Amino acid sequence: MKPIVSKDSIVYFNSDCYTALNSYLEKAQHSKIFILVDTNTHEHCLATAMGAIEKEYAIEIIEIEAGEIHKTIETCSGVWNALSELGADRKSLLINLGGGVVTDLGGFVACTYKRGISYINIPTSLLAMVDASVGGKTGVDLGNLKNMVGVISESEMVLVDTAYLATLPSEQMRSGLAEMLKHGLIMDRAYWNQMRDLSQLTTDHLDQLIYDSVVIKNKIVFEDPTEQNIRKYLNFGHTLGHAIESFYLTHPDKPTLLHGEAIAIGMIMEAYISTELLSLSKADLTEITTAILHTFPKITIDSDTYSAIMELLIHDKKNEKGNIYFVLLNTIGDTKYNCLVSDELILKSFAYYHIA
Ligand code: GLY
Repeated sequence: MKPIVSKDSIVYFNSDCYTALNSYLEKAQHSKIFILVDTNTHEHCLATAMGAIEKEYAIEIIEIEAGEIHKTIETCSGVWNALSELGADRKSLLINLGGGVVTDLGGFVACTYKRGISYINIPTSLLAMVDASVGGKTGVDLGNLKNMVGVISESEMVLVDTAYLATLPSEQMRSGLAEMLKHGLIMDRAYWNQMRDLSQLTTDHLDQLIYDSVVIKNKIVFEDPTEQNIRKYLNFGHTLGHAIESFYLTHPDKPTLLHGEAIAIGMIMEAYISTELLSLSKADLTEITTAILHTFPKITIDSDTYSAIMELLIHDKKNEKGNIYFVLLNTIGDTKYNCLVSDELILKSFAYYHIA
């Protein structure tokens, strides 16, 4: 699989990953290398990554707690302090080995520590392989608001070694599939058609689908790295999805919703809104709803929570001048951003999700 080149970074796959890493490390001559892991990747992935580094380097491990609730500025503080205490200087390298929390948080720590040190992402979850680790978005949550603090700055390289997926619980695998389905919906009907029938999936096929997903994402972020226009496409399903995710994150009495599970709901609701406001056909809506519900069984969102979820929409990062903007579909593979949607239609989309 050929490396995928973006503006300031490069994504290597499988057998190329560690060759690229080793030659980079040899050339760059960092003063020290830090590997950021969480409790899960420390146990399941670190030995593989360390074993792949050929030469002797000064390497320190920094561990954070696993889970979205730890994607906070307090966790960053812990990592900044650890870097400082362990003698990291501006010639140090941070390798983020983990899922989206580790790559987002670690990227942010690297971009801000001493005004910026180099970092590399080694995503270990499907979600991080196809989305979080590519495109330079780094950051943390602010209370229950997702990714409110951060910067866009690309890593030196991203190493997608799909062997790590064997360490992943099945619900985390499913969570990543949501972003891959989204890539088809926003940009590429042929890719959507492959993704919507996953019943025949083999490991080789999955590797190719991951590769193609990164190609789609890279095409978008290459053209619009700072989200002035088409990068907004990537937020399809995320306006309502993030609000639902934030709501569930702060209500421990509700079931835990992974990012992809919330985005799956958001995509169904926003596809419904697309049929009402744009030209997405009823047949496409049915196709989208059926395919997503096949992988993401429906959850019950109580109607007395709708208003609290809708209140969270005012914090969406696409909002401008008090307006809440959605990304919607003209058709599968053709997307429109900056769409204004009435509260009434948003409420109808909750109802659609429930009867679908
Ligand atoms: N995850 C959306 C983006 O990278 O823009």
